[in-house]
Amino acid sequence: MLGIAVLGCGAIGMQIIRALATGRVEGRVVCVHDLSEERARQAARLAGAEVAPGLEELLHCDAEVLVECASVSAARRVLLPALELGKQVVVLSTGALADPAILERVESFHGSRVHVPSGAVGALDALRAAREGELRRVVLKTTKPPRALEGSPYVVEKGIDLRGLKERSRIFAGSALEAISGFPANINVAVSVSLAGLGTRKTEVEIYADPAASRNIHEVHAEGDFGTFYFRTENLPSPENPRTSQLAVLSALALLRRLSSVLQLG
Ligand SMILES: NC(=O)c1ccc[n+]([C@@H]2O[C@H](COP(=O)([O-])OP(=O)(O)OC[C@H]3O[C@@H](n4cnc5c(N)ncnc54)[C@H](O)[C@@H]3O)[C@@H](O)[C@H]2O)c1
Repeated sequence: MLGIAVLGCGAIGMQIIRALATGRVEGRVVCVHDLSEERARQAARLAGAEVAPGLEELLHCDAEVLVECASVSAARRVLLPALELGKQVVVLSTGALADPAILERVESFHGSRVHVPSGAVGALDALRAAREGELRRVVLKTTKPPRALEGSPYVVEKGIDLRGLKERSRIFAGSALEAISGFPANINVAVSVSLAGLGTRKTEVEIYADPAASRNIHEVHAEGDFGTFYFRTENLPSPENPRTSQLAVLSALALLRRLSSVLQLG
């Protein structure tokens, strides 16, 4: 059974730990770490795992797989060291892979694997297939309730008054690379879509705030030699974190299940 280390015991981490602890998904939680010691202790109790006092200890624990579900900056710190230690890494904070220098180093590893779950958006399998021909254009349009976008660096820097919005409004348009630096906790999906398709510089992203929205909506439009597709998900937020879609949690569980499966789909 795969030994798993979990970095981040928040909305995604706790649901992963619960699924592993109850046997819903195969795997054994060996070690957990969180900036909040209390959360880490609670997670460790649930899973019968150890608490790692820091990232170093987590990296060196006896696990084959490291699941990162903490933050883009935490992902940046563990990704390459984990690969150097020969671990497989599951990355939820995919914004870390937007940095071309990190991506290039990641791609230079042989034998190790970085797994990117489809997250809050589908369509990654179709994009990967489409880019085997000529993929000309990929646009991601994301709509969220204003409160889910509050505090993002772009919103703060531009002084956008989210609370004053009366209707659905476009608050950002740019590349996926610009999107992830302006909204590091909100738009990891832009990087996942980029990795599967045209890369972070050519993937176009639009972000909308909608006071009437109760769901996080992602629409992926793609055009290429294959034809066109349009893929729309209307995600309910995770009960623990309004910024995180429940589908992202489920996609991480599906990925962990796939690690131990003979049949690999998509
Ligand atoms: N790929 C996707 O589609 C997708 C979707 C949703 C969320 N995410 C990302 O996944 C990550 C987790 O999401 P969540 O909803 O569980 O967040 P959360 O805020 O509920 O939980 C994150 C946990 O990680 C801990 N943490 C943060 N930085 C840390 C660090 N440097 N070291 C140790 N612990 C740290 C926090 O204390 C918290 O307990 C976030 O980066 C989020 O942006 C990705």
